[in-house]
Amino acid sequence: MNRDGFGSKLGVIAAAAGSAVGLGNIYRFPCELGNNGGGAFLLVYLLIVLCLGVPVMLSELIIGRRTQKNPIGAFRTLRPKSAWPAIGYMGVFGAFIIMAFYCTIAGWTLEYVVKAVGNQFQGKDLATIEKDFGDFHNMGWRNVLWESIFIFITAFVVFKGVANGIEKYSKVLMPLLLVILIVLGVRSMTLPGAKEGLRFLFHPDFSKITGSVLISALGQVFFSLSMGMGVLITYGSYIKKDDNLASTALSVTLSDTLVAVLAGIVIFPAAFSFGVNPKEGMGLVFCTLPMIFNQMAGGYFFCVIFFVLLAVAALTSTISLLEVIVAYFVEELHMSRRWATVIAAAGCAVLGIFASLSLKDGSSFTIAGMSLFNSLDFLSAKILLPIVAFFIVLFVGWILGKSAFFEEITNGGGLKMSIKGIIFFIIRYLAPLAIAVIFVTGFL
Ligand code: PFF
Repeated sequence: MNRDGFGSKLGVIAAAAGSAVGLGNIYRFPCELGNNGGGAFLLVYLLIVLCLGVPVMLSELIIGRRTQKNPIGAFRTLRPKSAWPAIGYMGVFGAFIIMAFYCTIAGWTLEYVVKAVGNQFQGKDLATIEKDFGDFHNMGWRNVLWESIFIFITAFVVFKGVANGIEKYSKVLMPLLLVILIVLGVRSMTLPGAKEGLRFLFHPDFSKITGSVLISALGQVFFSLSMGMGVLITYGSYIKKDDNLASTALSVTLSDTLVAVLAGIVIFPAAFSFGVNPKEGMGLVFCTLPMIFNQMAGGYFFCVIFFVLLAVAALTSTISLLEVIVAYFVEELHMSRRWATVIAAAGCAVLGIFASLSLKDGSSFTIAGMSLFNSLDFLSAKILLPIVAFFIVLFVGWILGKSAFFEEITNGGGLKMSIKGIIFFIIRYLAPLAIAVIFVTGFL
C-alpha cells in the first residue's frame, strides 16, 4: 500500500507542533498552574520539559518512523508475539478519551467565535461576562451541538488525509497564533496591577512543590506535547527517512513551551488586574480574555481573530487524536478510511456528549464524586500518559537498543549527532526513572 505522508520538513514540524499546541497550552496550562501554586508549578513544568520533552518525543517518533505503522502495528512489527502492543492499545484508548473531553472545550471556542463576531463582550463588566459563561456551560444542548460540530469538522479534515488536510492548515495558522499571543501579552502586562500576576507566574514558592504538583506538571507536559498516546508514533510513521528527527523534536518542544509560557503571560497579569481568582479554572480563559479585549484599541478585531485561532489550534490537535484511532482502524482492522473516520468520530461524539453534560451544575454524570469530564482528564493526563510514556522510553532504551537508536537518529549514519550518546543515556536511565519517581510520589 502506498502510504500517505508529510510533504516537507516544515510540514512535519507544523503538523506535530499543530498537534502539540492547542487548548492544552492556552486553556489547560493556566488552569493547572493556577491550581498548583503558580511559579512553583511553572518551575517544575520547565524542568520536566527540559529533561523529558525531547527524549520522550524522539522515542515516539523513532518507533513510528522505523516501522511506518500505527502505534499498535508498530509494536507488533518490532516485537511480534509479545505483550508490547498493549502499550499501543493504551495509546489508542488514551486518544479516544482525550478526544471525548477535549472536544467539549473545543466546542466552546466556536461559541466564543460567534459571541466575538456578534460583539457580545463590548462594555460588559467581569461579573456579567462570568454570568454569561456560567449560563452557557449550563445550557447542555448548546454545548453538545458545538461539540458535535467540532468533531464533524475534525472528521472532515482527517478523512481528506494527511498531506492534503493536516499539513496544509497547520503551516499558516500556527505562526499567526504566536503573533496574536505576543500582542495580547504586551497589553496584559501593561494593565494596572499586572505586576502581581507576573509575580504569581515567575516567583516560585518552593514550599508549594508537593507530590500532587509534580504529577500535575508531569501530566501537563505530556498532555501539552501530545506525548504518551501514540500521536507522535503515528505522525512519525508519516515522516520521511531523511528528515532529522532530533531537530523536529526540539523545534516542537520549544514552540509548544513558548506558547504555554506566553499564554501564562497573557492570562495571569490580566487576571490579577481584573480580580479574577487564579484558581478559577475554566473562567480564566473564557472570562479574563474578553476583559482584555475590552481594554484594547482594536479589541473587537483581536477578539474575533483570537477565538478563531484558538479554535484552529484545537482543531490541529483533535485532528491528530482522531488520526491515531483512524490509522489503527485502517491498518489493523482493514477498514476503509471513510468508515474508520465515521466510526471513530461517532464513538468520540457519544462519550463526548456525556462528558460535556457532566459539566452542568448538579449533573449526575460523575465517577467517584468527580464529573465525567474531570475523570477523563485525570485518567488520561495523570495516569495513562505517564504509563505509556514510561513504557515507550523503556522500549527504546532497552528493547530497541543503542544501535537501532543511533541508526534512526543519524538517518543511518548520514547525520552528525555528537550528543546522541547523552540522549540515549537519558532515554535509557533518566527518563524512566524520573517518570516512575514522579508517578509514585504523586500518588503517595
Ligand atoms: N497537545 C494538545 C494540546 O496541548 O492542546 C492536546 C493533545 C493532542 C493531547 C493530542 C494529546 C494528544 F495526543
